[in-house]
Formats: sequence, structure tokens, C-alpha cells
Amino acid sequence: MASSMLTKHSSIFFLILFFTIISLSSLAIADHQSDSEVFSKYISPSFLGLKKEKLSHLHFYFHDIISGKNATTVRVAEAPSTNRSSTFFGATVMMDDPLTIKPDVNSKIVGRAQGIYAFASQSDFSLLMVLNFAFTEGKYNGSTLSVLGRNKVLSAVREMPVVGGSGVFRFARGYAQARTYTNTPIHTTVEYNVYVFHY
Ligand SMILES: *[C@@H]1O[C@H](CO)[C@@H](O)[C@H](O)[C@H]1NC(C)=O
Ligand SMILES: *[C@@H]1O[C@H](CO)[C@@H](O)[C@H](O)[C@H]1NC(C)=O
Ligand SMILES: *[C@@H]1O[C@H](CO)[C@@H](O)[C@H](O)[C@H]1NC(C)=O
Repeated sequence: MASSMLTKHSSIFFLILFFTIISLSSLAIADHQSDSEVFSKYISPSFLGLKKEKLSHLHFYFHDIISGKNATTVRVAEAPSTNRSSTFFGATVMMDDPLTIKPDVNSKIVGRAQGIYAFASQSDFSLLMVLNFAFTEGKYNGSTLSVLGRNKVLSAVREMPVVGGSGVFRFARGYAQARTYTNTPIHTTVEYNVYVFHY
């Protein structure tokens, strides 16, 4: 009886000792992890659930309305010389342009183009485009694609790099092709075909 009590106590003692040693040694290991290992390490793509890379084609119409009750853009900056420039050099415009499924501005909205375009050329209408396509449609709702490129607006087809994305478009890369569909002094409709690799 006494000896079994003793054994029980000593096994509890050894158990506590064992876990103390384990936790102390793991602390020591954590301590020995170098700063660089804490900061960065190689991982497998499966760690992020990444499977096969896919190629998607998105097609929509972009509406840029520069004035009036339904304006979707605002000029946020310009140089003192901008209004004397035949190419509006220096004008910088913030847009929140709806993206629709059909050319009609009142057709279903699939997202918005939010960002900046700036008149970046002294000799033609070449814009610096810095924008996010923020999608709201179906499985794309909440996902974005980021575009950074040159848009020579009078060319029939303009191509801009897609430099990244979020949500379903994580790790995205690809390109967007823009074609002016209709153009009035206040409302420009642009057809976009976007091709992106993503997971
Ligand atoms: C603004 O948009 C509404 C809805 O599409 C349209 O009925 C109206 O004519 C537009 N107003 C102007 C000034 O374009
Ligand atoms: C330049 O022209 C724009 C558009 O007409 C106007 O809003 C802006 O006030 C003008 N800027 C200057 C400095 O005259
Ligand atoms: C997109 O997601 C937002 C936030 O989760 C939600 O409020 C909205 O209704 C969704 N839109 C569509 C078109 O599904």
C-alpha cells in the first residue's frame, strides 16, 4: 500500500519533471531560432492551399463620366501649365468608374475601376493608369486586380499589365486590353478584355 503510494507520487513527480524539461528545452529551441528564420522561411505552395494555376478571361465595359450629376471622376491635381498643354500634361484624375456586363451603363454592374489616371505625355494622350478593378460579381465579389500601365487613349487597342490581385486573384499576373467603344464629350465607354493567371 505504502509502496504503491510512493510509486504513484514519484511517477507524478517524474511526469512533472518531464514536462518541465520539455517546455524548457522548447523555449531554448525557440530562443536559438535565428531572427532570419522567424522573419522568413521557405514553405510549400500546398501550405496556402495552392493547387493548379488557372487562366481566366474577364470581359466588361468601363464607364468614365467626367462631368454632370453622374460624374465618376474628379480632377485632383494639375500643374500651373496643364491647361496650356495641348495634351493636358500633368492633369491627375481620380476615378470610381462602374464596370458593366454590357455596353449600356445601366446594365448589371460587376465591379468598379478605382484609382488614378494622369496625363503623362507632352506629345500625345498617354495616360499613366494606376487602378484596382474591385469586383462585386459572384465568386469574384471582394476580389481585386491591380493594373499599372500606359494607356495611349487614341490607339485602337491599349494593353496594360495586371501586376497582382487579391482574393481569388492572389498571385495574379496578366494583361488588360482596352478598346474605346463609344465616346462623347462627357461619357467614354471602354471595352475591356482581361487575361490573368491565378490559382
Ligand atoms: C444619371 O444616371 C441616371 C441613371 O442611369 C440616368 O437616368 C440619368 O439620365 C443620368 N443623368 C445624367 C445627367 O446623365
Ligand atoms: C484648368 O481647367 C480645368 C477644367 O476646365 C479647371 O477645372 C481648372 O480650374 C483649370 N485650372 C486652372 C489652373 O486654370
Ligand atoms: C458582395 O459582398 C458584400 C460583402 O460581403 C455583400 O454585402 C454584397 O451583397 C455582395 N454583393 C454581391 C453582388 O453579391
